[in-house]
Amino acid sequence: MSPLPRLQKILSEMGVASRRQAEEMIREGRVTVNGRVAQIGEKADPSRDHIKVDDRRVRLSTSRVYLLVNKPKNVVTTVDDPEGRPTVMDLVKSGYPRLFPVGRLDYDAEGFLLLTNDGGLAYRLSHPSFQVPRTYRVKVKGKPTLEEIQKLSRGVSLTDGPTAPCRIVPLRETDENSWLEMTLHEGRNHQVKRMWEKMGYSVLKLARVRFGGLSLGKLKPGEYRPLRPAEVEKLENLVQERPGNLEERQTRYLEDQLSDLRVRKRRIPRIRPRA
Ligand code: URA
Repeated sequence: MSPLPRLQKILSEMGVASRRQAEEMIREGRVTVNGRVAQIGEKADPSRDHIKVDDRRVRLSTSRVYLLVNKPKNVVTTVDDPEGRPTVMDLVKSGYPRLFPVGRLDYDAEGFLLLTNDGGLAYRLSHPSFQVPRTYRVKVKGKPTLEEIQKLSRGVSLTDGPTAPCRIVPLRETDENSWLEMTLHEGRNHQVKRMWEKMGYSVLKLARVRFGGLSLGKLKPGEYRPLRPAEVEKLENLVQERPGNLEERQTRYLEDQLSDLRVRKRRIPRIRPRA
């Protein structure tokens, strides 16, 4: 069972208020769960518990909105930013119900980001147990060797634990930099940057180009569009069932990764392992 979300998260995902405002409401004793005044940090099940704010029942919104945004750089992935920086919500015209981002992209990263008011789907898409694939195009300073790429793809140890196997495909390189595509099945904070840092490389550019089997397509940074019903269905199907055998999946990715590398390395003669 995945852990239940905290009340302030539920309230923000239901569109009642931002997470900070929801915390304030809880602190003020305006929120009850099953008739009992809620406490800050309390968890609840939005599909079963009776949650009330100011004595009015709050429910999940029935009209669902799913927007695919190409987040530009220098925009923060939050609903409101205490520092007053532009947020991803500023990219979308008003008139939609209260939306929130699914997962996070760094301030200086760009690319695929979903905004929705579907708390359930958002929760599952971001939950590590569903291992939703996300693909990043990464510009790295320097030229990682084949061995280093293989090591990184097998997993490295970070301060918050080892990373799961991921798929890395070298795209091209110049004398100074390399471009690679990485597909991860977990979404920890600054994960791509931290993984490369661990190998002694810094990330110069980062763009998420695919998420959950959907692509950014021709959407330019700053543009957005609603997902098509078939795309929403694809995401729903992806997180419908509990993931199967983790080890089996990891082995498969590792095998794919290695065969990809072999093929790519043959095709791109400029990338050679260092002596
Ligand atoms: N990894 C990072 O380092 N940053 C992101 O924004 C996403 C993945």
